[in-house]
Amino acid sequence: MTKKLFIKTHGCQMNEYDSAKMFDLLEEKESFELAETEEEADLLILNTCSIREKAQEKVFHQIGRWRKIKEKNPNLKIAIGGCVASQEGENIIKRAPAVDIVFGPQTLHKLPDLYNEKSKTDINQIDISFPKLEKFNHLSVHGTGEPSAFVSIIEGCNKYCSFCVVPKTRGHEVSRTIEDIINEISALADKGTKEIHLLGQNVNNFKGTYKGEKSSLAKLIELTSKIENIERIRYTTSHPHEFKDDLVEIYDSVPELVSHVHLPVQSGSDRILKLMRRRYNVEKYLDLVQRIRNVRPDMSFSSDFIVGFPGETKDDFMGTMDVINEVRFDESFSFIYSPRPNTTASDMPDDVSNEEKKERLSILQNRLSQLSFGYSRKKVGTIQNCLIYGQSKRDPGQLQGRTICNRVVNFPSNNIDLVGQLINIKINEALPNCLRGNLQN
Ligand code: SAH
Ligand code: F3S
Repeated sequence: MTKKLFIKTHGCQMNEYDSAKMFDLLEEKESFELAETEEEADLLILNTCSIREKAQEKVFHQIGRWRKIKEKNPNLKIAIGGCVASQEGENIIKRAPAVDIVFGPQTLHKLPDLYNEKSKTDINQIDISFPKLEKFNHLSVHGTGEPSAFVSIIEGCNKYCSFCVVPKTRGHEVSRTIEDIINEISALADKGTKEIHLLGQNVNNFKGTYKGEKSSLAKLIELTSKIENIERIRYTTSHPHEFKDDLVEIYDSVPELVSHVHLPVQSGSDRILKLMRRRYNVEKYLDLVQRIRNVRPDMSFSSDFIVGFPGETKDDFMGTMDVINEVRFDESFSFIYSPRPNTTASDMPDDVSNEEKKERLSILQNRLSQLSFGYSRKKVGTIQNCLIYGQSKRDPGQLQGRTICNRVVNFPSNNIDLVGQLINIKINEALPNCLRGNLQN
């Protein structure tokens, strides 16, 4: 009898990628099928995120809901993966005994064994070790022809920004080989994928070897662009400190590289950037933005911002607003600082009230929305070449695509054959976070 699997994913794109790999693996090795509901599953997997406290709290609430399902179906197994699993290990089972399996971002390939062992012996299984890149030896590519696909190129992070748990939960940086990555991309392209989204916590520190020579992210992008069928390339996340000249220059020679980059600045105060241990200052960041814009004038920038870092003064915050106004960021992510276990910032004195932090966040988010809406409005009346991703989730009579600057575009059409194609759309309406248009004949 086939077994059924339900996966819930919290957090970043890397988690989405890992969850897809978990399904591929359990389908291939254990003939699992995707369950439509949690109630009909034999195995429930939660791929967790611990980047902020709120994300972590969600884990135990979810386990609480799943425990009730397990009470009715004692054969059901619950597995917890991702960064909370990596951070908490066996404490998860101590706090939530309904959990059977705990695994980390680097041990997801062991899931079939962990599941079988738990089923056979009823002994809880915990493996949150960091075997370097071992997981990729166990994962085959199951492209389904989706228009856009993630491909992990570098795992972990060595930066140890003072606020961030990622180096602890995902381990040290390790790059996959160029050969391995290109094989994965080629297999996806053969199935019909048009856009490749290269993934890592810090992709511009990617270090590969090609034909005996050391190769960077820029080289990998160039090689990716030469693969037949690949028409768009994205990458996330890049760290401003390691954005090398060859990466700036590649915007000139590789048209497949989209005109949007996520370049998290976090703060616009040199004092705070130093406390965050980000290794750049505002001047260097602005200079980098300018150099990229010199090569691609229509480049769109998005960023992450942390508001209310310990000791952030009004002046520090105004520095962040100045950078926002100078760069004129497009859609961005912003968060109130959340102290994380075993990070140096969590010991720093913090005298800013929560009210003040919330107010700063709202000022910052209002300005970012204004800028983003401004970008949308400027596109009205233009023709945008869009990659069509699929039907709009809200309205099946509409298809959805993205412009080269990463703006979502909805347009009326029932022609599913357009999915996966690059087509021209005439934009006739701007909403704050998306555009509306019509097919351009
Ligand atoms: N590797 C990426 C960031 C990964 S974490 C980079 O170099 O920027 C994603 C975002 O979460 C970060 O950019 C940061 O803005 C936010 N973040 C990380 N730790 C946080 C914390 N302790 N509190 C609030 N936001 C945090
Ligand atoms: Fe985190 Fe800084 Fe790495 S934000 S993921 S430690 S670059």
